[in-house]
This record gives sequence, C-alpha cells and structure tokens, in this order.
Amino acid sequence: MINQDKRKALLAAAQKVRNEAYAPYSGFRVGAAVLSKDGSIVSGINMENSSYGLSVCAERNTLAAAVAQGKHDFEAIAVVSEGGVTPCGACRQVIYDICGDIEIILADTDGTVRKSTTTKALLPDAFGDMDLKKEGA
Ligand code: THU
Repeated sequence: MINQDKRKALLAAAQKVRNEAYAPYSGFRVGAAVLSKDGSIVSGINMENSSYGLSVCAERNTLAAAVAQGKHDFEAIAVVSEGGVTPCGACRQVIYDICGDIEIILADTDGTVRKSTTTKALLPDAFGDMDLKKEGA
C-alpha cells in the first residue's frame, strides 16, 4: 500500500483534474490520477463525444497520457467521481494490462475514500499477454 502522503497527493490530483472533465452528455464527471514508481503523478478526465460510443473514461485517458510520457511502472491509481464509483469493465482490463495488480483508490468528489481495492480484486482471472503466448504468437 502506498503511504499517506502519496495517497493524499494522488487523490488531490484526481480531484483537481475532475473539474476539467468533458461530460456534457452524461453530466457524470470523473477525474483520475496514476502514481508511477518514480513518484510522478499523471492525471486525466473522461471525455465524451456527441457520437456517444466514442466517449472515453478517465482511467483510460489517464493511462494513455502516462504511457505517452514514458511511464511504465505504476503503483496506484485514484479515481474521483460522485459516489466514488468503481471502474467499468473495459477500464479494469486496461488497468490490468498496463499496470498489473496495483492499488485502486475510489473516492467521492470531496476526496473521501469510498473503497480501496486492487486490480486483481476487481478483475479476477483476467485475460492477459500470457494468454496470447499460448497460441505461440
Ligand atoms: N466513466 C469514467 O470516466 N470512469 C468510470 O469509472 C465510470 C464511467 C465515465 C464514462 C462516461 O463519460 C461517464 O462516466 C458516464 O458513464
């Protein structure tokens, strides 16, 4: 588990960036922030589209931004939303693929942690790169 200072910083980043969420269709704004093992934090938001299916969750946008910044080893991700919801199924899979089994902190808009969990707990028996190797690719 990450220490209290890191948790505070991660939650603050997710809370702050949530103000930038682009969610005019659902009105459900989400902010996320991912902590790398080098101590850096990258944050992101959900971005919706008038062609609804093109909307992308905050978790996936955040991880894409982090990888684009050369980050590959992660410790924890925080997600801030109304009620502190858990990540959708698609995001669970992406978190697993990009981060492996990390800490996932889910908080309400005021920063109150609603649930602290892990990738493995949210996505047991995940499909992953080791499964692709079975075919000899
Ligand atoms: N959403 C996220 O960004 N993350 C979640 O964990 C749940 C859902 C977004 C997608 C969409 O823009 C809005 O919330 C409503 O589903």
